[in-house]
Amino acid sequence: MAAYWPEPIVSVQALSQTGVTTVPSRYVKPFHQRPVLNSSQPDAEIEIPVLDMSNVWGKPEGLRLVRSACEEWGFFQMVNHGVDHALMDKVRAAWREFFELPLDEKRKYANSPDTYEGYGSRLGVVKGAKLDWSDYFFLNYLPSSIRNPSKWPSQPPKIRELIEEYGEEVRKLCERLVETLSESLGLEPNRLMKAFGGEDKVGASLRTNYYPKCPQPHLTLGLSSHSDPGGITILFPDEKVAGLQVRRGDGWVTVKSVPNALVVNMGDQIQILSNGIYKSVEHQVIVNPGMERVSLAFFYNPRCDIPIGPVQELLTESRPALYKPIRFDEYRLLIRQKGPSGKNQVDALLSSR
Ligand code: OGA
Ligand code: NI
Repeated sequence: MAAYWPEPIVSVQALSQTGVTTVPSRYVKPFHQRPVLNSSQPDAEIEIPVLDMSNVWGKPEGLRLVRSACEEWGFFQMVNHGVDHALMDKVRAAWREFFELPLDEKRKYANSPDTYEGYGSRLGVVKGAKLDWSDYFFLNYLPSSIRNPSKWPSQPPKIRELIEEYGEEVRKLCERLVETLSESLGLEPNRLMKAFGGEDKVGASLRTNYYPKCPQPHLTLGLSSHSDPGGITILFPDEKVAGLQVRRGDGWVTVKSVPNALVVNMGDQIQILSNGIYKSVEHQVIVNPGMERVSLAFFYNPRCDIPIGPVQELLTESRPALYKPIRFDEYRLLIRQKGPSGKNQVDALLSSR
């Protein structure tokens, strides 16, 4: 993997703070990728499902709701998810403070494309690629053996403890969700976790996204359209600023986040394991001229060194395996080189039949 970025890195936050009134051409997307920002679209009133998790855990009716959300949307919002709201507020506030530090301080954690860990402003190493209007901080969380404390921010003072506390709560939520997804597919409760390689061997990482104000939001995206490569993603969206859009047919639905909710979406590995019953749905982020936006994405992934393919029990004569097994570390490499780009990766695994 490349050790260096192909071009000098520009902090989008710093660029935005200079008061630029036009978006530099390296952020201007081709016409067909630009967002549709006025909501006179017919789908404007449609929303992703909101599930009260206290009515879901272990309840047959709840499992049906999970199934239909995952088949139809690949996304749902969770309320009563069990993660402490005060802790959520604190960890987000700490990340906001981190991004408000002087650039020199943040640059101490500057990342490189070999691991992506640390503070960065681009995904993918293709020279001349159009870039997204965002900065981020990426860190590895699980297995704990790959944690690298020197890559974690040390300011503001409490941030490391908060990341760890939040990470533990979200990890527990993910374990519960993987069990629920398994049951909702009609499998033994522990079947999917077994396919993930077991609780002690799964991978997880946290990416905090910072989307600065943008003078011409119709020309660019905060995060290009992509599907998440891993298992499941727990997104803690900004409490005040919308931005996440989920693919719906040919259009996009902007998520209206419910206070204190967490969003969960299926990644490519769930699409593969469920043999396409659950969809890893494309999503993107739009930006706006008035408010910066901060979101936390927790990626919960299968063990990276075992083959991941469709679960045997889900295969039938009329629905044989759609995907060839692949290890998650191999799969991730394909994506890291290119950066976010629609849903071509998982489709490339479709076995030719
Ligand atoms: C991601 C992602 C959405 C958001 O980090 O993969 O899709 O709202 N983030 O920041
Ligand atoms: Ni995503």
